[in-house]
Amino acid sequence: MNPFSYFIPLVLFITFLIIIQVTSDQNLINSTCKTSSHNDPNIDYNFCTTSLQAAPASHCATLQGLGTISIRLIRYNLTDTRCFIEQLMKNRRWDPYSKQCLSDCFDLFSDAIPSVNQVMRYYEIKKFEDANVLISSIMDAATTCEDGFKERRGVVSPLSKRNDDTCQLSAVALSVMHMVQTGSSG
Ligand SMILES: *[C@@H]1O[C@H](CO)[C@@H](O)[C@H](O)[C@H]1NC(C)=O
Ligand SMILES: *[C@@H]1O[C@H](CO)[C@@H](O)[C@H](O)[C@H]1NC(C)=O
Repeated sequence: MNPFSYFIPLVLFITFLIIIQVTSDQNLINSTCKTSSHNDPNIDYNFCTTSLQAAPASHCATLQGLGTISIRLIRYNLTDTRCFIEQLMKNRRWDPYSKQCLSDCFDLFSDAIPSVNQVMRYYEIKKFEDANVLISSIMDAATTCEDGFKERRGVVSPLSKRNDDTCQLSAVALSVMHMVQTGSSG
């Protein structure tokens, strides 16, 4: 028999397996985000799927893995925002009120970064309650940062989108963690 006669069916079969795999992985992210946005109206389904899908290795992740990924995303956001604040303070002149707000935000995020590392450790050893408390404190930090700017009329927060992202990612992490804890994903 011609050896090539095996080749095409084999390629088709492998392609088929890859498609099945990719589809079911997308389904886990989609179904997880569907449950999350259903349980928590603060979570936007598209934000959730876009964030998780963009993360490295998320397509092969289990539900437990999606929890780890969502915590990692919070850490990237916080670290990046802290660095961004540093640059904002260096590269622009600010009115004294905004400058104080930025400095407060910088301190809040400086404290939140070690917290998110602790969240990761708690999550790994399944101390979900402790992880929850710390994630809530990270959401509070982003909210407090944002509220500082809001307290003065005419002052615009340069961090609104970032603070909103941090809050939403934290909500996603809380929700995924809850699903891991209760063993449900949909
Ligand atoms: C998952 O959601 C994305 C966007 O929300 C969509 O494009 C994709 O088709 C969905 N995948 C599955 C397998 O439902
Ligand atoms: C924060 O996370 C969101 C969702 O993953 C992402 O879209 C955004 O670019 C991140 N922001 C920063 C500053 O890293």
